[in-house]
Amino acid sequence: MSAMRFSESVTGIIQDGVLVVTIDNPPVNAISAHVRQGLVEALDHGASLGLVVGIVVTGAGRTFVGGADIKEFGQPPVEPTLPEVIERIESCGKPIVAAVNGAVLGGGCEIALACHGRVANDKASFGMPEVKLGIVPGAGGTQRLPRLIGTVAAIDLIGSGRAIKAAEALSLGLVDGVAVDHLDAALSLVHDLAGEPLRRTGLLGVPPAEPAAVEAATKKVLSRARGQTAPAEAVRLVKAATDVELRQGLADERSTFLRLRDSTEAAALRHVFFAERQAGKVEKLEGIVARNIETVGIVGTGLMGAGITVAALTSGYRVVGVEQTQEAADKGRERISATLEKSVQSGRLAAAARDGCRARLTVTADAGELASADFVIEAVFDDLTVKTELFQRLDGIVRPDAILATNTSYLNPDEIAAATAHPERVVGLHFFSPANIMRLVEVVDCKATVPDVLASALALARKMGKLPVVCGVTEGFIGNRIFSAYRREAEFMVEDGAAPHEIDAALEAYGFPMGIFAVYDMAGLEIAWARRKRQAATRDPNARYVEIADKLCEAGRFGRKTGRGWYDYSGGERAVDPAVKTLIEAARGAKGIEPRHFSADEIVTRLLKAMADEGAALLAEGIAGRPGDIDLVMINGYGFPAHKGGPMFAADLDTTS
Ligand code: 3HC
Repeated sequence: MSAMRFSESVTGIIQDGVLVVTIDNPPVNAISAHVRQGLVEALDHGASLGLVVGIVVTGAGRTFVGGADIKEFGQPPVEPTLPEVIERIESCGKPIVAAVNGAVLGGGCEIALACHGRVANDKASFGMPEVKLGIVPGAGGTQRLPRLIGTVAAIDLIGSGRAIKAAEALSLGLVDGVAVDHLDAALSLVHDLAGEPLRRTGLLGVPPAEPAAVEAATKKVLSRARGQTAPAEAVRLVKAATDVELRQGLADERSTFLRLRDSTEAAALRHVFFAERQAGKVEKLEGIVARNIETVGIVGTGLMGAGITVAALTSGYRVVGVEQTQEAADKGRERISATLEKSVQSGRLAAAARDGCRARLTVTADAGELASADFVIEAVFDDLTVKTELFQRLDGIVRPDAILATNTSYLNPDEIAAATAHPERVVGLHFFSPANIMRLVEVVDCKATVPDVLASALALARKMGKLPVVCGVTEGFIGNRIFSAYRREAEFMVEDGAAPHEIDAALEAYGFPMGIFAVYDMAGLEIAWARRKRQAATRDPNARYVEIADKLCEAGRFGRKTGRGWYDYSGGERAVDPAVKTLIEAARGAKGIEPRHFSADEIVTRLLKAMADEGAALLAEGIAGRPGDIDLVMINGYGFPAHKGGPMFAADLDTTS
């Protein structure tokens, strides 16, 4: 029989007496209005055909359904709504089975939950990621998931937004079976269910749960929420499923969903979602093919080099790590091995994958082995002379088509590139520590970098699971330049009357995991001090300069590692230190500054403005390509709360509200 078309994105075919409905709405089969319309048409058709015993719903391509169409959020609603479609599925008189291929997320999962049976292939992954978009499920997820898998597991999945693989979904009871041929299995299940009383998820009772386990799951979700509204609301709705009628639970869920969907928090997280998808896309690279990279050379296997090595190994690259001496190479291998082991223990890496990583790793004191590398990343001490000398040596070792990357936070990669015979093959990479965990990488497009080298660096970063943001050359790139402006403003406020702990408290209440002075203490004060001393001769004598951080360093207060910095850590915890107060008062006194009070609001407003102003300067200078790129850097590298959208989003909101 020929295929039936129910809408531009929903088709059907009758197979074995079953109507197989396929959602085909690239790229991720989001449930746009025409998908919802097509599904309703298909359900009506399937129900009306006497020769059809049931319906299978599946997705074309790699995804079953990637959720509601996020691009429709913020636009006037178009009928039929997803809850209406889902109600039609659950109440259908013939069995409907979801044949899940690939990702099934959010509204996609809600469709599957309402079906009378669910079968998945082993590529399927299930998730309710709504809280990551600042919303709660809006089409029955909070009410049907606990009925199927229990309250504790539902709180975990909906509250965290994490995705699970088919095997875990099976063990939780989220799917009835996992099969190599999911369609075949779904067809059989429809035949098994035909004529039997249908199991309608919404009509099931929620299985009883241990109150202590429910509370523990709730606590876990809330402890990660950091001021975000959606996780708490999601947990509340899941818990309510036990006590209220389905209809009431669904109504509460829908109104909460609609309210949150229109919130600033949701707008911020949508901005982050789309910014992430834009990151690393550069117009001038359109049509440019990245080079094939199989072997990555890493020079320097200290903390940063080992982290980069692990990220490269776990994404399938062969790695040649190089150190100056055999002893250092042995230490480097141990460090890498220990990091791999930690990844296994924390569940990020399977034991078999770790063995594969080890097999693809060589650590040596023979730099000549870098001749086999397609891409060499230097991660040695952040010193211009050390790095330029190394690059000159590498020129004579690596293949002519190999790419050279310098990992630096503050040095000028143009100067490093200029020291080589082929600056066109040099690119900058600024990884964040620990490099095997932190997603952000600033990819520095140097003066001479040719497009296919930049494209290759981006492809490598993506394959390593990183979030690459392209930036031009400037002191500190995007992140550290903004961080400097942010720190400068914070220090101005300290000099003018705010206490460091007041500033940190205001930032933490805003959603930063840690205030700037606590971060400063954790990172150590001495590196920035050394830089300030280097810059002293060229500093504008008329620019305002706060000396308090220098005075702390002169007193040997380098932060946590010395037990004291902006705070005192001698008791184990961060504590306000009267000695710092005295030092600050002396600095104010020396400049004749009369201290004044700063409200938490003023503190946050000034710091956000300092970040956004520096961001605007980076855009004007062409260092950053998009405001969203700046937001991603600050969120993923500097603890800016994602649910506030980043400094550029926040500034935009300020000017438009
Ligand atoms: N709506 C609209 N567009 C979407 C989308 C969605 N739900 N999900 C992805 N896209 C778009 C992306 O913006 C991107 O567009 P671009 O090519 O123009 O940049 C394109 O699809 C491809 O996306 P990815 O690069 O992320 O593709 P991947 O293959 O790497 O990942 C995915 C696929 C796992 C589905 C991932 O896109 C994803 O996680 N999507 C979001 C899923 C989600 O949050 N769903 C819940 C939506 S809210 C909801 O369902 C509410 C309901 O309860 C009522």
